[in-house]
Amino acid sequence: MEANQRIATIAVHLQHSNPQMEESSALRQAECRAKGGSPGFKVAILGIGQPLAMLMRMNPLISVLHLYDVVNSPGVTADLSHMDTGAVVRGFLGQPQLESALTGMDLVIIPAGVPRKPGMTRDDLFNINAGIVKTLCEGVAKCCLNAIVNLISNPVNSTFPIAVEVFKKASTYDPKRLLGVTTLDVVRANTFVAEVLGLDPREVNVPIVGGHAGVTILPLLSQVKPPCSFTPEETEYLTNHIQNGGTEVVEAKAGAGSATLPMAYAAVKFADACLWGLRGDAGIV
Ligand code: 2OP
Repeated sequence: MEANQRIATIAVHLQHSNPQMEESSALRQAECRAKGGSPGFKVAILGIGQPLAMLMRMNPLISVLHLYDVVNSPGVTADLSHMDTGAVVRGFLGQPQLESALTGMDLVIIPAGVPRKPGMTRDDLFNINAGIVKTLCEGVAKCCLNAIVNLISNPVNSTFPIAVEVFKKASTYDPKRLLGVTTLDVVRANTFVAEVLGLDPREVNVPIVGGHAGVTILPLLSQVKPPCSFTPEETEYLTNHIQNGGTEVVEAKAGAGSATLPMAYAAVKFADACLWGLRGDAGIV
């Protein structure tokens, strides 16, 4: 009997949305070790990028990882759930499961949307991605209004104000909780500047202001740490490379999408900082 219950518990872990199981007192989430008994944060990724999901699954600060998408989430969830890391992973498929995916989350990461193809600017994605971001943010406002939101969906410069308006309309807008993620530009800038200077990229920090599209990405090359100087040619080369790095990847992938690997890396860096901040650790606001 006890063995049956344990096996049923594991089944709940993967099939959380089966209402009969949810109603069974023996299998309720609070009693289920395999459903997030370990301490840690609850994080949802809306629009699964597999590299991002994989890296988040390995994050020791996370106890529960929800993966929501309109396609493929059961498969990715089953695949990821075989890793012997601490976080429990659960999949959610399609809009009817959005609210379940969001309920109780501490951090919601939104990379959802279509990527660019060669010849497109990030603005060309607006018509599709704006509606997706609106729907997802409405879900956040309803189901986890205190969650921190990391918004990645392009064009971030334009999806971000949409998210602001959704949260304002729901009277849940908090500028400290809605964050557009442009860390990929910093990651690229650190890499490219380190190459020019002949340094380890981990020792380089390039501040960037502005947005996340072409000329709105403004690297402050005079403020690089460690302090250094560049020739006018180096400044022009670096500025172009940093501002157009995303487009270079779109062209190189020749129709197969945009950057996903450094994007996942950058998103995890940013999410990690948010989670350390939520823990109240000194120095992260
Ligand atoms: C990039 O800069 C996808 O916008 C992302 O590569």
